[in-house]
Amino acid sequence: MRTPIIAGNWKMHKTVSEAVELVRKLEAELQDSPVEVVVCPPFTALSAVFALGLSKVKLGAQNMYHEEQGAYTGEISPAMLKDVGCQYVILGHSERREYFKESDVFVAKKAAKALEHGIKPIICVGESLDERRAGKTFDVVVTQTKGALAYITPEQIADVVIAYEPIWAIGTGETSTGEDANEVIGKIRATIAELFGQDKADQVRIQYGGSVKPGNIAEFMNQPEIDGALVGGASLSADDFTKIVQYE
Ligand code: 13P
Repeated sequence: MRTPIIAGNWKMHKTVSEAVELVRKLEAELQDSPVEVVVCPPFTALSAVFALGLSKVKLGAQNMYHEEQGAYTGEISPAMLKDVGCQYVILGHSERREYFKESDVFVAKKAAKALEHGIKPIICVGESLDERRAGKTFDVVVTQTKGALAYITPEQIADVVIAYEPIWAIGTGETSTGEDANEVIGKIRATIAELFGQDKADQVRIQYGGSVKPGNIAEFMNQPEIDGALVGGASLSADDFTKIVQYE
């Protein structure tokens, strides 16, 4: 049995005080949820959120660099994330792939380094609208999945979370259907099975992301292959994110 995991990717939103206020509400509302709950505030708010001493809501970052330390202006190391309580880190989000030209190899290096430091990576994969229309969805997600997992060992794979986020569904209000997302996620799991064996693949949690809202979360969570969600816009509201986590 895989424990469902719902994570909020706040992207470039929320000041420190706004972040603290939002997380306080979530921590109070979600205590009894059987779902693993993660929030990924911007770097600037991590320390203040960690200082709240959360018991239910876990902390994640939105990015990380794969070197230990050094002359990498503007970058953040895994040890720095550990230091402010991060148990998760989102890697290879489509916005980073698009705007910051992150490649599969780059994502793979970061994923391996995160795990080396005991931080669980949430690795994002997903096709663009053009790729979907050209019938390339499976090709794209298989290539991205294999690429990102290139340096992961069989001992580490169960700690990896994959987020399937079709790019055309991010921030657009358009969503994949539950069945469609389930099929693609099944393909991702089959790819992991090819690399690490079925037993290992059955332990990996795979989320859906892209315009997840209180009104559509159940459609995704009720699918057998879908183990959670990576939520953008709706994770910025305590009310909406609470409803999403309490989808049943
Ligand atoms: P939205 O939920 O705003 O579509 O964003 C999805 C996303 O990119 C989460 O990482």
